[in-house]
Amino acid sequence: MKSKNIILGLNEYSEKELSSSDKKLLSEAKKAAKSAYAPYSKFKVGAAIHLKNGKIISGNNQENAAYPSGLCAERVALFFASSQFPSTTVRSIAVTNVPCGSCRQAMLEYESRQGSPVKIILQKEKNKIIISESVSNLLPLSFSYKELKKD
Ligand code: THU
Repeated sequence: MKSKNIILGLNEYSEKELSSSDKKLLSEAKKAAKSAYAPYSKFKVGAAIHLKNGKIISGNNQENAAYPSGLCAERVALFFASSQFPSTTVRSIAVTNVPCGSCRQAMLEYESRQGSPVKIILQKEKNKIIISESVSNLLPLSFSYKELKKD
């Protein structure tokens, strides 16, 4: 597949260059974004997660009048997936925009915990999709539970 390396580990694709499974996951994320509860920002985000057990879990941002009480789409989907299927592995996650720092941190926790990479497919702009084979590429020099074990 033709791709342009833009940042280490991150590759850019057009919609038609995506594999059918990545395309499907991104379309599930887009579908989820439509039912986001975002009355304050009016910025609807969707995320879809492909688990090793074959299930696809999607979620969207949930806002609150007390703004910090809301939660991003990625974490809504990820926390739900992990609460329902605690022992399965997260294979990939598709997001309808670029994830914020807190979501990158949260996604990385699952990657570290399961010991295998989580692929991320994110829609940066119309017809511009960025794929990384590991969410760690989105958060270099990250903090993880390994730091807590140092004395
Ligand atoms: N948002 C997400 O759902 N995911 C992100 O990674 C970035 C931001 C949501 C939070 C808030 O509801 C809205 O987008 C505007 O920041």
